[in-house]
Amino acid sequence: MINILGVETSCDETSAAVVADGRMIRAQVVASQIDIHRAYGGVFPEMASRQHILAIVPVVEETLRKAGVSWDDIAALAATHGPGLAGSLLVGVNVVKGLAWAAQRPMVGVNHLEAHIYANWLIEPPDAVFDPASLIARHPAPAFPLLCLIVSGGHTELIYMQDHMQYRALGRTIDDAAGEAFDKVARLMGLGYPGGPAIEQAASRGDPTAYDLPRAWLGDSYDFSFSGLKTAVLRLVQKVGGDDAPTAISRGKRTRVPAGVMRKINEADLAASFQEALVDVLVAKTAAAAAAYPVQEVLLAGGVAANKRLRQRMAERLSVPLRYPPPRLCTDNAAMVAAAAYFRYQAGERAAWDLDVIPALQLATSPPEKAI
Ligand code: KG4
Ligand code: ZN
Repeated sequence: MINILGVETSCDETSAAVVADGRMIRAQVVASQIDIHRAYGGVFPEMASRQHILAIVPVVEETLRKAGVSWDDIAALAATHGPGLAGSLLVGVNVVKGLAWAAQRPMVGVNHLEAHIYANWLIEPPDAVFDPASLIARHPAPAFPLLCLIVSGGHTELIYMQDHMQYRALGRTIDDAAGEAFDKVARLMGLGYPGGPAIEQAASRGDPTAYDLPRAWLGDSYDFSFSGLKTAVLRLVQKVGGDDAPTAISRGKRTRVPAGVMRKINEADLAASFQEALVDVLVAKTAAAAAAYPVQEVLLAGGVAANKRLRQRMAERLSVPLRYPPPRLCTDNAAMVAAAAYFRYQAGERAAWDLDVIPALQLATSPPEKAI
């Protein structure tokens, strides 16, 4: 079996994992910074990189201990090198370089979006006593060609995959990402950070038809737009709140709606109506692409893929099977980095020692890594 040690530090989770054959998680540790950033209403980049520096060594040590492997058992190391926050990416990439140099093992640089997609290949063993080969054999991998909807805090992309690591971008957001819309609307409604889980929870008690919110169809394209939906929620709050209402949703700043305004709005109904409008568009466009392309299955990836309403509505609408990772593998984690790295490693890809971080790295245009 090929064990890869993956490291993820692109945003606000410090994580390491050992994954066998790109599929079975031997061990994973995720140190979340959510409690630190919550006070700022969003990710504070300098704070994030400092926290990664503090957490990364203990996180890697604990992962290796939990996996029960020595360096002899590790074939290669992998780090997310983009997209993400430069200062955060640097921590993971440089730690992996140091470890790879010390252990004399090859490195693979991983695109964070590709890692989210490959979370769909992962299997979590039920307990510590397992036979990796039979576990993998019992869990068929995703079948190509397939469609993947990546919905995270920074990205919303509809991708067609003919085979491993072959990406054709059918559509993407032209403004806010789906997770960004969840986070901004949650901030506007005073629901806290991160917004996705907070909105989902509030929405579970609400009526999704209570407020009439816009859906941006953008003609027949597979592109998305969520900024109009976000602004419609702001206008609604302003209409009810008058002078008390916020004038804008600013990033990184807490926009708490005065209690009086939120009393006049049914919070659960507004959360449910917003979530429904966003889910409607994601489902309709993905279903249209699934019907237009010869796909065997559809995958969901990224933090918003943890949303139960999205999973349920998507499964109901598609005529091909839908697959999604368990919630904790939808949000940022290192197991998905090790999974993606395995397929690149098997294809002969090795990162050079000058592997750099690329904060705006794109999926379809990922540069091929140079061989050592
Ligand atoms: O993939 P991810 O952990 O980080 C990025 O690569 O961006 O995604 C984080 C995003 C956040 O915007 C968060 O609000 C959203 O995923 N999210 C959710 C849920 N859980 C996380 N959105 C909707 N419903 C959820 N249950
Ligand atoms: Zn992510």
